[in-house]
Amino acid sequence: MRVLYPENPLNKTQVDDPYHEEFTTVYGAGYQCSLFDFDALTFEEFNPRPKIQPGERVLYRGWMLNSHGYKTLATQIERKGGIPITSYADYLRCHHLPGWYQQCVDFTAETYFLEADETLETKIQALGWERYFVKDFVKSNTAGGGSIANSPSEVRHIVDQIATYRGEIEGGVAIRRVENYLLNTEFRYFVVRGLPYSHDGEIPTLVKEIANIIDAPFYSVDVAENLAGELRLVELGDGQVSDKKTWPISKFLEVITANA
Ligand SMILES: Nc1ncnc2c1ncn2[C@@H]1O[C@H](COP(=O)(O)OP(=O)(O)O)[C@@H](O)[C@H]1O
Ligand SMILES: [Mg+2]
Repeated sequence: MRVLYPENPLNKTQVDDPYHEEFTTVYGAGYQCSLFDFDALTFEEFNPRPKIQPGERVLYRGWMLNSHGYKTLATQIERKGGIPITSYADYLRCHHLPGWYQQCVDFTAETYFLEADETLETKIQALGWERYFVKDFVKSNTAGGGSIANSPSEVRHIVDQIATYRGEIEGGVAIRRVENYLLNTEFRYFVVRGLPYSHDGEIPTLVKEIANIIDAPFYSVDVAENLAGELRLVELGDGQVSDKKTWPISKFLEVITANA
């Protein structure tokens, strides 16, 4: 296995800053690691250093890519003779909300997928909820007033903010029922080849169930406790582009090792 990290744009011989600790640990543990120019991918330029060896399985760890971006990365890895551990289809299965929602409907907030067109407000009105949690297929709104809307026009405002601050609405709009998660109860788990991994050794039953249901090579599972004391699934994510959050690096290395 070779692990691919984005290089620091200001010093191309170094890994990009946020991945420094992880790169050092993974490389130090004896894994082959390469750097590449993340921004050049847009121009279909991909020259990882050291080179990918023929037949090598390649794990990416870096910035989120939109669907076109990941398709480019996976294609380029193959052109260099490598095998992406996560295919384009597997990336979308966990990175985009509609990719996993139906299979997890019992464990997660009720969700409708809409287009950001002129019918949006009418469709929101038809739901008739008091509040709406608004995101695109990938991320919530981290700008301004956050992701919770009280009316169709507030939903529109959040959608416009996401489009402005992130440059696009990725996939479409996801309208989720607002759930009452308790503060500081959200934790991230990782699943590699069907097996769940935890930052503290404890794996909740919900996470084990999800690991049995969602068949993708490497993904993250965020769960939180609600007011009723139940564990709920907040979201899945592709493991390659998921932050390790509260995980100590020595524990996270087990997740990388599981991919090898
Ligand atoms: N349906 C919901 N109801 C209430 N709060 C939510 C809901 N979904 C997510 N949140 C809260 O908003 C945060 C961000 O939402 P999330 O879906 O994880 O998007 P992101 O991709 O931006 O992390 C979550 O960590 C959780 O605290
Ligand atoms: Mg999240």
